[in-house]
Amino acid sequence: MSSVSITPTQRLAGTVTLPGDKSVSHRFGMFSAIAEGTTHIANFSGSEDCTATLNCMAALGVPIERTADEIVIQGVGKHGLKQPDGMLDAGNSGTTIRLLSGILAGQPFETRITGDDSLRRRPMRRIMDPLARMGAGIVATDENFAPLAISGGNLHGIDYELPVASAQVKSCVLLAGLFAAGETTVIEATPTRDHTERMLGAFGAPVVHNGTRLTISGDAVLKSPGDCRVPGDFSAAAFFLVAASLVPDADLLIENVGINPSRTGLLDVLHEAGLAVGLENEREAGGEPVADLRVRGLHGDRLTRRLELGGDIIANVIDELPILSVFGAFHGGIDIRDARELRVKESDRIALVAANLRRMGVEVIEREDGLSVEGNQRFRSATIDTAGDHRIAMAFSVAALAADGPTEIRDAGCAAVSFPKFFDVLASLRS
Ligand code: S3P
Repeated sequence: MSSVSITPTQRLAGTVTLPGDKSVSHRFGMFSAIAEGTTHIANFSGSEDCTATLNCMAALGVPIERTADEIVIQGVGKHGLKQPDGMLDAGNSGTTIRLLSGILAGQPFETRITGDDSLRRRPMRRIMDPLARMGAGIVATDENFAPLAISGGNLHGIDYELPVASAQVKSCVLLAGLFAAGETTVIEATPTRDHTERMLGAFGAPVVHNGTRLTISGDAVLKSPGDCRVPGDFSAAAFFLVAASLVPDADLLIENVGINPSRTGLLDVLHEAGLAVGLENEREAGGEPVADLRVRGLHGDRLTRRLELGGDIIANVIDELPILSVFGAFHGGIDIRDARELRVKESDRIALVAANLRRMGVEVIEREDGLSVEGNQRFRSATIDTAGDHRIAMAFSVAALAADGPTEIRDAGCAAVSFPKFFDVLASLRS
């Protein structure tokens, strides 16, 4: 798909079915592979990112079968991975390369892993440092970038205080800890998404919490929980929640959404701004809380409260900041601080959100660690440069719904990195 043209709409109603959560799917893909026993995973994300994870695990000798309804992974156990023939390819996926590196650091063979142009520009020092301290050998381009060559084996446990609030780094170190002598402790001053801790517990390899300390034992053995189900991706739901606030009298039911509190800061932010999102049919799936979300739009009016985001909430809403910037521009304005991490995502999301909002005629002040956007703005029809970043493509497709004419989303196919059916779902709600 090259570009897509999105016209404004006066109607947005219906039921939204989301892809399986990307973070949870990656973890099921990796943890099932090194577990004992066979795991059947329903609603596994069909995203390009999670497909990259499955391809890497298959290249490491793990039997994986995809049927119409589920992924079946025959675990090879902690010591059953095989040296791949060639270089592993994580594609666009930071979660794949960073989490998998933790596992690879524990293997008694050398592996090389790389990714696409975007991933090869993202910092890897943050995982190389702790893994090297545990005893792994890692060589990177310019000491920071993929391709990585990882020679593993003979790791020992460490205490590691995270220098950045990153669930990917936390998970990488905990996974390496499964292969290390003794205990490995990660100290996490700012909470980040906790899918790894929850899922390792479900696989019988508990992570012990003690205040900010998370500890795993190198003796732990993963056992398949058998049948699992991935909840719908909250970060995908975020686009539709905001879309509903832009279109008069919108009415959406978003089904089967993961509502892990380490991910749902957006709900608190929207609530504070004055947008009510109802949680219906709350339940649990695969150790994660799930609900259906009901959101009803406004009656053509706009919310006026200015949002101030900074500090600990940033890690919780990190993937939602592009769409929250759109929300702020339409409603009461937004100030985002302490979000330097956005500069090293799939794109420099601070620069790209600012540039694209300006293209739509919105006033933005860009700072090193965030941006300030004026509220109550009129969105002009524009051409959006996505730089191949899925969340930029989707955030500006939502902004386009409230623009004064058609908006061209360049390289819109990148949405498939996390949400292959995004444009079909959006179209279905307008007709
Ligand atoms: C993820 C963690 C976050 C997030 C990414 C997925 C994960 O990255 O931005 O989309 O699955 O662990 P960081 O932990 O590096 O901030």
